Amino acid sequence: MIYLDNAATSYPKPREVWEALEKHWFYSGGNPGRSGHRLSIAAGRAVLDAREELAELFHAERTEQIVFALNATDAINIALKGVLNPGDHVITTSMEHNSVIRPLRDFERNGGSLTVVNCSAEGFVSLEAIAKVIKQDTRLVVVNHVSNLTGTVQPIKDIGRLCRDRGVLFMVDAAQSAGIFPIDVQEYHISLLAFTGHKGLFGPQGTGGLYVKPGVEVRPLRVGGTGSRSDIQYQPEFMPDRLEAGTVNAFGLAGLAAGVRFIKRVGLDSIRAKELSLTKSLVAGLREIEGVLVYGPKISELGSGVISFNISGLDGAEVAAVLDEQFGILTRPGIHCAPLAHETIGTFPYGAIRLSIGYFNTESDIEQVVEAVSIIAQEGRKENLSNERN
Ligand SMILES: Cc1ncc(COP(=O)(O)O)c(C=O)c1O
Repeated sequence: MIYLDNAATSYPKPREVWEALEKHWFYSGGNPGRSGHRLSIAAGRAVLDAREELAELFHAERTEQIVFALNATDAINIALKGVLNPGDHVITTSMEHNSVIRPLRDFERNGGSLTVVNCSAEGFVSLEAIAKVIKQDTRLVVVNHVSNLTGTVQPIKDIGRLCRDRGVLFMVDAAQSAGIFPIDVQEYHISLLAFTGHKGLFGPQGTGGLYVKPGVEVRPLRVGGTGSRSDIQYQPEFMPDRLEAGTVNAFGLAGLAAGVRFIKRVGLDSIRAKELSLTKSLVAGLREIEGVLVYGPKISELGSGVISFNISGLDGAEVAAVLDEQFGILTRPGIHCAPLAHETIGTFPYGAIRLSIGYFNTESDIEQVVEAVSIIAQEGRKENLSNERN
Protein backbone atom coordinates (compact mmCIF):
# COMPACT_ATOMS: atom_id res chain seq x y z
CA MET A 1 0.00 0.00 0.00
CA ILE A 2 1.18 3.52 -0.80
CA TYR A 3 -0.39 6.18 1.41
CA LEU A 4 -0.64 9.59 -0.26
CA ASP A 5 -3.35 11.19 1.87
CA ASN A 6 -1.17 12.82 4.51
CA ALA A 7 -3.00 16.15 4.11
CA ALA A 8 -6.12 14.44 5.48
CA THR A 9 -4.22 12.77 8.32
CA SER A 10 -0.64 11.55 8.52
CA TYR A 11 -0.02 7.82 8.26
CA PRO A 12 1.90 6.00 9.53
CA LYS A 13 2.87 7.83 12.71
CA PRO A 14 6.34 7.38 14.22
CA ARG A 15 6.56 4.30 16.46
CA GLU A 16 7.38 6.46 19.49
CA VAL A 17 3.92 8.07 19.25
CA TRP A 18 2.30 4.69 19.76
CA GLU A 19 4.76 3.89 22.58
CA ALA A 20 3.91 7.17 24.34
CA LEU A 21 0.18 6.40 24.06
CA GLU A 22 0.69 2.95 25.51
CA LYS A 23 2.81 4.30 28.35
CA HIS A 24 0.20 6.95 29.13
CA TRP A 25 -2.60 4.36 29.07
CA PHE A 26 -0.88 2.25 31.71
CA TYR A 27 0.86 4.77 33.94
CA SER A 28 -0.84 8.19 33.63
CA GLY A 29 -4.55 7.43 33.41
CA GLY A 30 -5.84 10.02 35.90
CA ASN A 31 -7.68 13.27 35.17
CA PRO A 32 -5.12 16.04 34.53
CA GLY A 33 -5.22 18.81 37.11
CA ARG A 34 -8.34 17.55 38.88
CA SER A 35 -6.97 15.51 41.78
CA GLY A 36 -3.82 15.34 43.88
CA HIS A 37 -3.05 11.64 43.48
CA ARG A 38 -0.19 10.19 41.46
CA LEU A 39 -2.18 9.25 38.36
CA SER A 40 -3.73 12.72 38.14
CA ILE A 41 -0.33 14.35 38.60
CA ALA A 42 1.15 12.10 35.89
CA ALA A 43 -1.67 13.03 33.47
CA GLY A 44 -1.20 16.73 34.28
CA ARG A 45 2.52 16.33 33.59
CA ALA A 46 1.74 14.78 30.17
CA VAL A 47 -0.48 17.73 29.23
CA LEU A 48 2.13 20.25 30.38
CA ASP A 49 4.78 18.34 28.47
CA ALA A 50 2.76 18.66 25.22
CA ARG A 51 2.16 22.36 25.89
CA GLU A 52 5.87 22.94 26.47
CA GLU A 53 6.88 21.05 23.31
CA LEU A 54 4.46 23.07 21.16
CA ALA A 55 5.31 26.43 22.79
CA GLU A 56 8.96 25.76 21.96
CA LEU A 57 8.17 24.58 18.40
CA PHE A 58 6.21 27.77 17.63
CA HIS A 59 8.48 30.08 19.69
CA ALA A 60 5.60 31.19 21.91
CA GLU A 61 6.45 33.77 24.57
CA ARG A 62 4.95 31.60 27.33
CA THR A 63 3.83 27.97 27.61
CA GLU A 64 0.34 28.97 28.78
CA GLN A 65 -0.32 30.77 25.47
CA ILE A 66 -0.90 27.32 23.91
CA VAL A 67 -4.55 26.29 24.37
CA PHE A 68 -5.65 22.75 23.53
CA ALA A 69 -8.63 22.05 21.29
CA LEU A 70 -10.17 19.10 19.45
CA ASN A 71 -8.56 19.88 16.08
CA ALA A 72 -7.80 22.88 13.84
CA THR A 73 -11.51 23.54 13.15
CA ASP A 74 -12.25 23.78 16.87
CA ALA A 75 -9.25 26.08 17.41
CA ILE A 76 -10.34 28.33 14.51
CA ASN A 77 -13.84 28.58 15.99
CA ILE A 78 -12.47 29.40 19.46
CA ALA A 79 -10.36 32.17 17.90
CA LEU A 80 -12.90 33.71 15.50
CA LYS A 81 -15.87 33.58 17.86
CA GLY A 82 -13.66 34.85 20.67
CA VAL A 83 -12.22 37.96 19.02
CA LEU A 84 -14.82 39.18 16.49
CA ASN A 85 -17.74 41.49 17.18
CA PRO A 86 -20.65 42.47 14.89
CA GLY A 87 -19.53 45.46 12.84
CA ASP A 88 -15.91 44.28 12.56
CA HIS A 89 -14.29 43.82 9.15
CA VAL A 90 -12.27 40.66 8.39
CA ILE A 91 -10.01 39.89 5.42
CA THR A 92 -9.28 36.39 4.21
CA THR A 93 -8.18 34.68 0.98
CA SER A 94 -9.85 32.58 -1.69
CA MET A 95 -7.59 29.60 -0.84
CA GLU A 96 -9.10 28.98 2.61
CA HIS A 97 -10.53 25.71 3.88
CA ASN A 98 -14.20 25.57 4.93
CA SER A 99 -12.97 25.45 8.55
CA VAL A 100 -12.22 29.17 8.10
CA ILE A 101 -14.77 30.11 5.44
CA ARG A 102 -17.83 28.68 7.20
CA PRO A 103 -17.28 30.45 10.57
CA LEU A 104 -16.54 33.64 8.63
CA ARG A 105 -19.74 33.32 6.56
CA ASP A 106 -21.60 32.84 9.89
CA PHE A 107 -19.91 35.98 11.21
CA GLU A 108 -21.03 37.85 8.06
CA ARG A 109 -24.64 36.68 8.57
CA ASN A 110 -24.48 38.01 12.12
CA GLY A 111 -23.51 41.56 11.26
CA GLY A 112 -19.82 41.29 10.38
CA SER A 113 -18.24 42.27 7.08
CA LEU A 114 -15.89 40.02 5.10
CA THR A 115 -13.52 40.65 2.19
CA VAL A 116 -12.20 37.58 0.37
CA VAL A 117 -9.02 38.48 -1.53
CA ASN A 118 -8.69 36.49 -4.75
CA CYS A 119 -5.53 34.44 -5.18
CA SER A 120 -3.77 33.60 -8.45
CA ALA A 121 -4.57 30.37 -10.33
CA GLU A 122 -1.47 28.87 -8.59
CA GLY A 123 -3.01 29.80 -5.23
CA PHE A 124 -0.77 32.71 -4.21
CA VAL A 125 -2.15 35.77 -2.42
CA SER A 126 -0.47 39.11 -3.03
CA LEU A 127 0.59 41.30 -0.14
CA GLU A 128 -0.51 44.40 -2.08
CA ALA A 129 -4.02 42.97 -2.55
CA ILE A 130 -4.36 42.50 1.22
CA ALA A 131 -2.87 45.94 1.98
CA LYS A 132 -5.36 47.58 -0.41
CA VAL A 133 -8.46 46.27 1.41
CA ILE A 134 -7.41 47.02 5.01
CA LYS A 135 -9.84 49.65 6.36
CA GLN A 136 -10.37 51.61 9.55
CA ASP A 137 -12.63 48.89 10.99
CA THR A 138 -10.53 45.89 9.88
CA ARG A 139 -9.99 43.78 12.98
CA LEU A 140 -8.41 40.62 11.58
CA VAL A 141 -6.63 39.07 8.59
CA VAL A 142 -6.90 35.25 8.33
CA VAL A 143 -4.57 33.29 6.02
CA ASN A 144 -4.07 29.60 5.29
CA HIS A 145 -0.30 29.05 5.54
CA VAL A 146 -0.16 26.03 3.19
CA SER A 147 -3.01 25.15 0.84
CA ASN A 148 -4.61 21.73 1.35
CA LEU A 149 -5.37 21.69 -2.39
CA THR A 150 -2.25 22.90 -4.21
CA GLY A 151 0.34 23.07 -1.42
CA THR A 152 0.88 26.76 -2.20
CA VAL A 153 2.81 28.44 0.62
CA GLN A 154 1.71 31.98 1.50
CA PRO A 155 4.21 34.67 2.58
CA ILE A 156 2.99 34.75 6.17
CA LYS A 157 6.04 36.61 7.47
CA ASP A 158 5.35 39.55 5.14
CA ILE A 159 1.61 39.48 5.84
CA GLY A 160 2.36 39.45 9.57
CA ARG A 161 4.57 42.53 9.24
CA LEU A 162 1.85 44.31 7.26
CA CYS A 163 -0.76 43.49 9.92
CA ARG A 164 1.55 44.68 12.70
CA ASP A 165 2.21 47.97 10.86
CA ARG A 166 -1.50 48.54 10.22
CA GLY A 167 -2.61 47.56 13.75
CA VAL A 168 -4.67 44.53 12.64
CA LEU A 169 -4.77 41.10 14.28
CA PHE A 170 -3.21 38.31 12.19
CA MET A 171 -4.46 34.73 12.33
CA VAL A 172 -2.76 31.80 10.58
CA ASP A 173 -4.41 28.45 9.77
CA ALA A 174 -1.40 26.16 10.17
CA ALA A 175 -3.35 22.89 9.70
CA GLN A 176 -1.13 21.88 6.76
CA SER A 177 2.13 23.51 7.87
CA ALA A 178 2.65 22.79 11.58
CA GLY A 179 5.37 20.18 11.97
CA ILE A 180 6.68 20.71 8.44
CA PHE A 181 7.44 24.45 8.21
CA PRO A 182 9.26 26.58 10.73
CA ILE A 183 6.74 28.90 12.41
CA ASP A 184 7.97 31.65 14.73
CA VAL A 185 4.88 33.38 16.08
CA GLN A 186 6.90 36.29 17.45
CA GLU A 187 9.06 36.90 14.38
CA TYR A 188 6.02 36.54 12.04
CA HIS A 189 3.82 38.82 14.22
CA ILE A 190 1.13 36.16 14.52
CA SER A 191 -1.72 36.98 16.93
CA LEU A 192 -3.53 33.63 16.66
CA LEU A 193 -2.19 30.34 15.26
CA ALA A 194 -4.56 27.39 14.79
CA PHE A 195 -3.01 23.93 14.42
CA THR A 196 -4.20 20.36 14.28
CA GLY A 197 -2.39 17.47 15.96
CA HIS A 198 -3.08 14.63 13.53
CA LYS A 199 -1.39 15.82 10.34
CA GLY A 200 2.23 17.09 10.21
CA LEU A 201 2.62 16.97 14.00
CA PHE A 202 2.09 13.16 13.98
CA GLY A 203 -0.32 13.19 16.93
CA PRO A 204 -3.55 11.22 17.23
CA GLN A 205 -6.88 12.53 15.89
CA GLY A 206 -8.77 14.59 18.47
CA THR A 207 -5.78 16.79 19.26
CA GLY A 208 -5.00 20.34 18.15
CA GLY A 209 -4.87 23.82 19.54
CA LEU A 210 -4.50 27.54 19.37
CA TYR A 211 -1.62 29.87 20.16
CA VAL A 212 -2.84 33.21 21.52
CA LYS A 213 -0.43 36.15 21.60
CA PRO A 214 -0.16 37.71 25.08
CA GLY A 215 -2.53 40.67 25.26
CA VAL A 216 -4.95 39.39 22.57
CA GLU A 217 -8.35 39.18 24.22
CA VAL A 218 -10.24 35.97 23.32
CA ARG A 219 -13.68 35.47 24.91
CA PRO A 220 -14.18 31.82 25.92
CA LEU A 221 -16.37 29.80 23.54
CA ARG A 222 -17.05 27.31 26.34
CA VAL A 223 -16.98 27.78 30.09
CA GLY A 224 -17.03 25.15 32.83
CA GLY A 225 -14.78 22.99 34.96
CA THR A 226 -11.05 23.58 34.74
CA GLY A 227 -9.80 21.98 37.94
CA SER A 228 -8.47 25.42 38.91
CA ARG A 229 -10.21 27.95 41.18
CA SER A 230 -12.97 25.44 41.86
CA ASP A 231 -14.22 27.78 44.59
CA ILE A 232 -15.53 30.40 42.13
CA GLN A 233 -18.60 30.27 39.86
CA TYR A 234 -17.00 32.18 37.00
CA GLN A 235 -14.45 31.10 34.42
CA PRO A 236 -10.86 31.78 35.58
CA GLU A 237 -9.26 34.75 33.77
CA PHE A 238 -5.82 33.20 33.46
CA MET A 239 -4.45 31.23 30.49
CA PRO A 240 -4.78 28.50 29.39
CA ASP A 241 -7.67 27.68 31.76
CA ARG A 242 -9.70 30.64 30.47
CA LEU A 243 -10.08 28.89 27.09
CA GLU A 244 -9.90 25.24 28.18
CA ALA A 245 -13.14 24.19 29.90
CA GLY A 246 -13.61 20.45 30.49
CA THR A 247 -11.13 17.58 30.63
CA VAL A 248 -8.58 17.79 27.83
CA ASN A 249 -7.52 14.78 25.75
CA ALA A 250 -4.51 13.94 27.93
CA PHE A 251 -4.09 10.54 26.28
CA GLY A 252 -3.98 12.06 22.80
CA LEU A 253 -1.71 14.88 23.96
CA ALA A 254 0.81 12.35 25.29
CA GLY A 255 1.01 11.03 21.72
CA LEU A 256 1.15 14.53 20.26
CA ALA A 257 4.11 15.44 22.50
CA ALA A 258 5.93 12.35 21.22
CA GLY A 259 5.15 13.41 17.64
CA VAL A 260 6.63 16.85 18.25
CA ARG A 261 9.72 15.33 19.87
CA PHE A 262 10.16 13.11 16.77
CA ILE A 263 9.98 16.22 14.55
CA LYS A 264 12.57 18.03 16.68
CA ARG A 265 14.89 15.02 16.57
CA VAL A 266 14.67 14.59 12.78
CA GLY A 267 14.57 18.35 12.19
CA LEU A 268 11.97 20.46 10.37
CA ASP A 269 14.47 21.22 7.61
CA SER A 270 15.12 17.52 6.91
CA ILE A 271 11.41 16.70 6.93
CA ARG A 272 10.59 19.52 4.51
CA ALA A 273 13.60 18.82 2.26
CA LYS A 274 12.62 15.16 1.92
CA GLU A 275 8.97 15.93 1.20
CA LEU A 276 9.89 18.65 -1.30
CA SER A 277 12.36 16.46 -3.17
CA LEU A 278 9.71 13.70 -3.52
CA THR A 279 7.10 16.26 -4.59
CA LYS A 280 9.37 17.65 -7.31
CA SER A 281 9.96 14.12 -8.69
CA LEU A 282 6.22 13.47 -8.57
CA VAL A 283 5.21 16.69 -10.36
CA ALA A 284 7.98 16.28 -12.96
CA GLY A 285 6.83 12.69 -13.62
CA LEU A 286 3.13 13.56 -13.83
CA ARG A 287 3.76 16.52 -16.15
CA GLU A 288 5.38 14.13 -18.67
CA ILE A 289 2.18 12.09 -19.02
CA GLU A 290 -0.09 12.97 -21.93
CA GLY A 291 -3.50 14.18 -20.75
CA VAL A 292 -2.44 14.89 -17.14
CA LEU A 293 -2.97 18.39 -15.80
CA VAL A 294 -1.17 19.27 -12.54
CA TYR A 295 -2.48 22.35 -10.69
CA GLY A 296 -0.69 24.76 -8.38
CA PRO A 297 2.77 26.34 -8.37
CA LYS A 298 5.49 25.74 -10.98
CA ILE A 299 8.17 23.22 -9.93
CA SER A 300 10.55 26.06 -8.97
CA GLU A 301 7.87 27.55 -6.68
CA LEU A 302 6.73 24.30 -5.06
CA GLY A 303 6.89 24.53 -1.30
CA SER A 304 5.09 21.59 0.25
CA GLY A 305 4.11 17.97 -0.29
CA VAL A 306 0.52 18.61 -1.44
CA ILE A 307 -0.40 18.57 -5.14
CA SER A 308 -3.56 18.03 -7.20
CA PHE A 309 -4.14 16.81 -10.73
CA ASN A 310 -6.74 15.55 -13.20
CA ILE A 311 -6.60 13.26 -16.21
CA SER A 312 -8.37 14.75 -19.20
CA GLY A 313 -11.67 12.99 -19.97
CA LEU A 314 -11.65 10.88 -16.77
CA ASP A 315 -13.67 11.30 -13.59
CA GLY A 316 -11.46 12.01 -10.56
CA ALA A 317 -13.39 9.75 -8.18
CA GLU A 318 -13.09 6.87 -10.65
CA VAL A 319 -9.35 7.46 -11.11
CA ALA A 320 -8.90 7.49 -7.32
CA ALA A 321 -10.88 4.25 -7.01
CA VAL A 322 -8.71 2.54 -9.67
CA LEU A 323 -5.55 3.82 -7.95
CA ASP A 324 -6.77 2.30 -4.68
CA GLU A 325 -8.24 -0.97 -5.94
CA GLN A 326 -5.77 -1.89 -8.68
CA PHE A 327 -2.54 -0.23 -7.53
CA GLY A 328 -2.94 0.10 -3.73
CA ILE A 329 -2.38 3.86 -3.92
CA LEU A 330 -4.48 5.91 -1.49
CA THR A 331 -5.40 9.45 -2.59
CA ARG A 332 -8.24 11.92 -2.12
CA PRO A 333 -10.43 13.10 -5.00
CA GLY A 334 -13.19 15.74 -4.83
CA ILE A 335 -13.46 19.21 -3.36
CA HIS A 336 -11.33 18.73 -0.20
CA CYS A 337 -13.58 21.00 1.95
CA ALA A 338 -12.28 23.91 -0.11
CA PRO A 339 -14.85 24.97 -2.76
CA LEU A 340 -13.46 28.51 -2.97
CA ALA A 341 -9.93 27.20 -3.53
CA HIS A 342 -11.21 24.95 -6.32
CA GLU A 343 -12.95 27.98 -7.89
CA THR A 344 -9.64 29.84 -7.66
CA ILE A 345 -7.68 27.19 -9.54
CA GLY A 346 -10.52 26.49 -12.00
CA THR A 347 -11.54 23.00 -10.88
CA PHE A 348 -14.94 23.74 -9.34
CA PRO A 349 -17.35 21.88 -9.28
CA TYR A 350 -15.76 18.67 -10.61
CA GLY A 351 -12.74 18.79 -8.29
CA ALA A 352 -9.32 17.16 -8.57
CA ILE A 353 -7.30 14.23 -7.27
CA ARG A 354 -5.01 15.19 -4.40
CA LEU A 355 -1.72 13.46 -3.64
CA SER A 356 -0.17 14.46 -0.33
CA ILE A 357 3.28 13.25 0.54
CA GLY A 358 4.48 12.54 4.06
CA TYR A 359 7.82 11.97 5.73
CA PHE A 360 7.53 8.19 5.40
CA ASN A 361 7.03 8.12 1.61
CA THR A 362 9.90 6.98 -0.61
CA GLU A 363 11.24 7.54 -4.16
CA SER A 364 9.91 4.09 -5.02
CA ASP A 365 6.37 5.19 -4.00
CA ILE A 366 6.66 8.15 -6.36
CA GLU A 367 7.88 5.99 -9.26
CA GLN A 368 4.96 3.59 -8.74
CA VAL A 369 2.41 6.43 -8.62
CA VAL A 370 3.73 8.01 -11.84
CA GLU A 371 3.65 4.60 -13.52
CA ALA A 372 0.08 3.91 -12.33
CA VAL A 373 -1.22 7.32 -13.45
CA SER A 374 0.50 6.83 -16.80
CA ILE A 375 -1.24 3.44 -17.29
CA ILE A 376 -4.65 4.87 -16.29
CA ALA A 377 -4.21 7.87 -18.64
CA GLN A 378 -3.21 5.57 -21.51
CA GLU A 379 -6.16 3.20 -20.91
CA GLY A 380 -8.47 6.22 -20.66
CA ARG A 381 -7.25 7.56 -24.02
CA LYS A 382 -7.82 4.17 -25.65
CA GLU A 383 -11.34 3.96 -24.20
CA ASN A 384 -12.22 7.51 -25.27
CA LEU A 385 -10.94 6.79 -28.75
CA SER A 386 -13.01 3.61 -29.10
CA ASN A 387 -16.08 5.45 -27.71
CA GLU A 388 -15.57 8.11 -30.38
CA ARG A 389 -15.30 5.46 -33.12
CA ASN A 390 -18.52 3.76 -31.93
C1 LIG B 1 -6.01 24.14 5.59
C2 LIG B 1 -6.85 23.38 6.56
N1 LIG B 1 -7.48 24.03 7.54
C3 LIG B 1 -8.22 23.38 8.45
C4 LIG B 1 -8.37 22.02 8.40
C5 LIG B 1 -9.20 21.33 9.43
O1 LIG B 1 -8.44 20.46 10.19
P1 LIG B 1 -9.16 19.49 11.24
O2 LIG B 1 -9.96 18.50 10.43
O3 LIG B 1 -8.07 18.86 11.99
O4 LIG B 1 -10.06 20.33 12.05
C6 LIG B 1 -7.75 21.29 7.39
C7 LIG B 1 -7.93 19.83 7.28
O5 LIG B 1 -7.83 19.23 6.26
C8 LIG B 1 -6.97 21.99 6.44
O6 LIG B 1 -6.35 21.34 5.46
